[in-house]
Amino acid sequence: MNILLIGSGGREHALAWKMAQSPLVDVVHCAPGNPGMDAVGPCFDVAADDIDGLVKLALQIEPDLVVIGPEAPLALGLSDILRARGFDVFGPSKEAAQLEASKAFSKARMTKYGVPTAAYGEFTEAAPAKTFLRKMRAPYVLKADGLAAGKGVVIAETLEEADSEIDEMLSGKFGDASATLVIEEFMHGEEASVFVITDGEGAIFLPAAQDHKRVGDGDTGPNTGGMGAYAPAPVVSEEIMSRVKCEIAAPMLKGMAKDGMPYQGVLYIGIMVTAEGPKVVEFNARFGDPECQVLMKGLKGDIVPAILVAATGGLKGNEEAFEALLELEDFQPAATVVLAAKGYPGSYEKGTVIEGVKQAGALEGVTVFHAGTDVADGGKLIAKGGRVLNVTASGATLREAVDRAYAGVDAINWPEGFCRRDIGWRAL
Ligand code: AMP
Ligand code: GLY
Repeated sequence: MNILLIGSGGREHALAWKMAQSPLVDVVHCAPGNPGMDAVGPCFDVAADDIDGLVKLALQIEPDLVVIGPEAPLALGLSDILRARGFDVFGPSKEAAQLEASKAFSKARMTKYGVPTAAYGEFTEAAPAKTFLRKMRAPYVLKADGLAAGKGVVIAETLEEADSEIDEMLSGKFGDASATLVIEEFMHGEEASVFVITDGEGAIFLPAAQDHKRVGDGDTGPNTGGMGAYAPAPVVSEEIMSRVKCEIAAPMLKGMAKDGMPYQGVLYIGIMVTAEGPKVVEFNARFGDPECQVLMKGLKGDIVPAILVAATGGLKGNEEAFEALLELEDFQPAATVVLAAKGYPGSYEKGTVIEGVKQAGALEGVTVFHAGTDVADGGKLIAKGGRVLNVTASGATLREAVDRAYAGVDAINWPEGFCRRDIGWRAL
């Protein structure tokens, strides 16, 4: 079969790489893709948020399956438009994708379905927001309702800081995305990411992963899109995982289906493992980046049947067969280290030359996924984004996976790049 994969990050490179290994797959077409994905299948220069362009491309390629990587096209309704044209699509409808695109929507669903999460209030005016704030304890969690490229959450230590953040958000700090804001109780605990592949009824749970959101070692400095990840994450014990299944995933999927917006695709459940058990920090309507990279690297089996059944239905009651095809029992510990441009998540230089990526990828157990790379005239690989490469490795143990990933990092020559040196520390 032929697949059209939408997106251009490390997540999409990992998905393309994994899907291309399936005996079911002939070609993985990518739009817009990146230099790493170029080596997997043909890339088309259509942006991931150019809905008309992507529909045109799909009509031209006629793929058997469209896989949507990032949130932007989901929030713009690409799945619905393609499904209406008769395509099989992996990715939730615009309505269901609001679980990520609107924090207020997502909190309201959790409340309705009795899913454990932080207590909250939703506001469009500053005065009631500030009154609500005074009933909460520090630190204060303020969230822009809409998509804000991962920057829409502010944790304020003092009332003064929180008050001025409320004013800024409501007066357009994140444009329309912060016209509504959510104020939440602060949850204490350790975070993890759980991924559920679903057709809206049945559910396959992948091993839990852990991201590293802060830019600096020891989880210091500003938040980023993610500086590294590993799986499986031992903080999600069997007991916690079974509570995530029963208390979070099952009521969410059932409730969404009952309310006429079945969730199809992959549901990313960001949890806080608190003293009272797992609680939802956020939902995303897609795979995590960089969590996807470690999941694809660690999975021994075929991902395509699970993705296909999520797109076309018929998973319920057949979960075990798909889990067997994924070879979930034999998942290999995996880790990924993000190489980012110096200065990220602030301003950074573009166009600097990167060498040694091939050598790194030739090391045992190592695969280098591209995220923000480009090819300059003359064929040299250059950096064009903040997060640039994901040096990913699997091993017999997490220790081995991490050591292999750092051996890969050390084989790459990019003086203008940096990475965290402690990926996996909570588990190791
Ligand atoms: P989000 O985009 O909702 O995942 O928020 C970004 C980050 O802010 C999360 O990964 C957490 O580290 C932190 N965060 C969000 N909500 C809360 C909360 N209610 N309590 C504690 N930390 C939170
Ligand atoms: N790794 C966090 C995210 O994908 O949102």
